[in-house]
Amino acid sequence: MLVGVAAKRAFYPPQFTLAERVVMLDVLATAETARRRFASQLDPTRRNTLGQFFTPPATAKLMASMSTFRGGHVRLLDAGAGVGALTAAWVAEICSRRLRPKDVALVAYELDATLLPSLRKTLGACEEALVAAGISCTWEVQATDFIEAAVDQLDSGLFQGDRPAFDVAILNPPYRKFRAESRTRYLLRRLGIETSNLYTAFLALAVLLLDHGGELIAITPRSFCNGPYFRPFRKHLLQHMSLTRLHVFEARDRAFRDDEVLQENVILHAVKGVPQQPYVCLSRSRAPDDPVDMKREVSFHRVVRAGDPQAFIHVVPDDHGDAIAEAIHALPCTLDDLDLCVSTGRVVDFRARQWLRAEPIPGSVPLIYPTHFDGGVIRWPKPDTRKPNAILYTPSSASLMVPAGVYVLTKRFSAKEERRRVVAAVFDPECVPCDVVGFENHLNYFHRGGLSLDRFLAWGLCAFLNCSPLDVYFRQFNGHTQVNATDLRSLRYPRRKTLIEMGQKVHRNLPPQDELDRLVVETLEVG
Ligand SMILES: C[S@@+](CC[C@H](N)C(=O)[O-])C[C@H]1O[C@@H](n2cnc3c(N)ncnc32)[C@H](O)[C@@H]1O
Repeated sequence: MLVGVAAKRAFYPPQFTLAERVVMLDVLATAETARRRFASQLDPTRRNTLGQFFTPPATAKLMASMSTFRGGHVRLLDAGAGVGALTAAWVAEICSRRLRPKDVALVAYELDATLLPSLRKTLGACEEALVAAGISCTWEVQATDFIEAAVDQLDSGLFQGDRPAFDVAILNPPYRKFRAESRTRYLLRRLGIETSNLYTAFLALAVLLLDHGGELIAITPRSFCNGPYFRPFRKHLLQHMSLTRLHVFEARDRAFRDDEVLQENVILHAVKGVPQQPYVCLSRSRAPDDPVDMKREVSFHRVVRAGDPQAFIHVVPDDHGDAIAEAIHALPCTLDDLDLCVSTGRVVDFRARQWLRAEPIPGSVPLIYPTHFDGGVIRWPKPDTRKPNAILYTPSSASLMVPAGVYVLTKRFSAKEERRRVVAAVFDPECVPCDVVGFENHLNYFHRGGLSLDRFLAWGLCAFLNCSPLDVYFRQFNGHTQVNATDLRSLRYPRRKTLIEMGQKVHRNLPPQDELDRLVVETLEVG
């Protein structure tokens, strides 16, 4: 038996007869058997194209438990249904509740024909369970592209007329980027939806297909919470939906453990068309099978900061995190106030191959990669590195370089073993003698209108960016290892004078982390 007796007892309250419980159990077992079978059998290319990562039972159960539907008639959408794990979990959940709907209509969209027999089997088992619990049921499988179908229905107004809207949308949508000139992008634009990933496209459409008061329960990567490309999606979501709950899986590698997906995932629960409630429930667990280790009500304004043009979504885990967020938020300056900019390094190495050199030679200039970072400074050239240390300075490559000066560099991708997300170092021509320099594309660099920073200001900025409280704050809105220039632009910074004072203390020699944190906390009163 795939679902244990203990789970069965926990899931089904005693008012159910044994026969009823067995039917409900069968729903989950049917979905889980199919999930396991396909998880090991899927063709890898097809799997990537269709973004096929199936929801494990503990996660499906947690999502279903968030459903707050009311009313006698429920129409449920499962878009990108796979073998129906989410619908099955939702059906099992509502069958176990004291207050149950009178009738349920299940609508599942799935494009992959190989999954359809199993999906139909799961929905058949759902019907049996619902009927056994005294709920009448209809179900349909739409073996078609959800995006095409939803855009057609919404664009032609068909949905409002012929087909009732949905009360519940439960989704684990496919994840895959699509190109700006793709048909998918064109279709979405017909409805004014701007997004470049399938998962946000599915969510944006599900939002539009929901009825007033309908609920969205979705598991997705956390990247939509802060990425610059997801800004229109965040605006769309927040315009139509009231956020009620965000559950974060801390372990980047475990929410979809069977499927080897490495990313932080979030379950989102939101209700359509009602005013945003003042509080949002935030919760967290390490991985799907682990207990919820944090659950708190947080003011919506701490989750989405009033006036934030990017509408970042913050997950503030505890009071300590709250205090840090407030302190960082209260810092007096934006980058504009400091007359500073942050840009991404212009040397994309695979496009500049003909100019790259392993070692400096006459006619070349330093090329800086993250590998040259060493405790807050840049050590260059680096012997025994696979990365080139130099780039030829020619009329064609000159536009990729910047004039030598003092700059603060940050890594765009932190390595898994790195303790902090934001890792900064000072580039100083006193240590790396040169007239011009190339910064590789895996770096962001702070500058003043393309020119050098004041040396002490640079060191103060480097200390601030490397401090632990900033890292705590950063993790509240960034759930992946990528640090975008937009993330750095969105931060608040200390005054110029304060940065210079800190810089004078740490110049050329960043202290160990504890000492650095103490210095920044004492100077700024954060943490
Ligand atoms: C991430 S999987 C999730 C499956 C299932 N909801 C679950 O939770 O186990 C996404 C599913 O969407 C399907 N899919 C991908 N693109 C689709 C599209 N354009 N229309 C409908 N289904 C699609 C895939 O075949 C896959 O089964």
